Amino acid sequence: MSTDLLPNAGNDLLRIHKAITRALDVSLQNSQGTDLAEGHQQGFVTYVRALTILLHSHHAGEDELSFPFWRTRLPAGPFDELSEQHRQIVLCLNQVERWLEGVQAPWQAGAQSELHHTLTDLWTLWQTHIALEEATIGPENSRQYLTPAENEQLSRQLAEHGQTHAQPSELVMPFIVYNLSGADRAEYVKLLPPVMLQQLIPFAWRAAWAPMMPFLLAE
Ligand SMILES: [Fe+2]
Ligand SMILES: [Fe+2]
Repeated sequence: MSTDLLPNAGNDLLRIHKAITRALDVSLQNSQGTDLAEGHQQGFVTYVRALTILLHSHHAGEDELSFPFWRTRLPAGPFDELSEQHRQIVLCLNQVERWLEGVQAPWQAGAQSELHHTLTDLWTLWQTHIALEEATIGPENSRQYLTPAENEQLSRQLAEHGQTHAQPSELVMPFIVYNLSGADRAEYVKLLPPVMLQQLIPFAWRAAWAPMMPFLLAE
């Protein structure tokens, strides 16, 4: 079997990083310059809130599951530095959350500029962080240092951890799915329970995530 077809927890890492990177891009673009149309402001607040929740839960999965496991395989790996980067990102997220709590749609012209400034700092921290993280626990090292069974187990544990911690699910799970496209989305949804894909996201949860649609990729 080609090694590309074997379970690889590093590929899951790249995929979730892609969803977060796209969401950061979209949040940066929409907090820049001219103000958002009033009709989209509340959806934008919901979208950025989902991004902050996802970042917290993604870091928690790494701090609680990935890094402790990887330390046993790469004892000299930069895990203290990666965790410190998480703490720096959390400081930025706290500022984003304060902005989200304080703003009310419709907001005054220019109210987004403070958010944009913080998101710009967050973007820089995020790029530095994922470069180091992907070089440490990305696909290459996952293939080299973990067996296929260990990759599969780590993937499953992280997926379950994410689904438990990224709350409310009705906001964050569709947020991840629709910040991915094509093959990335097809691979990501394989880790979700069928009921979530077939019933919850398209129907029961739709009203919760629909306001974010202007900022998501098409269904
Ligand atoms: Fe991380
Ligand atoms: Fe990460």
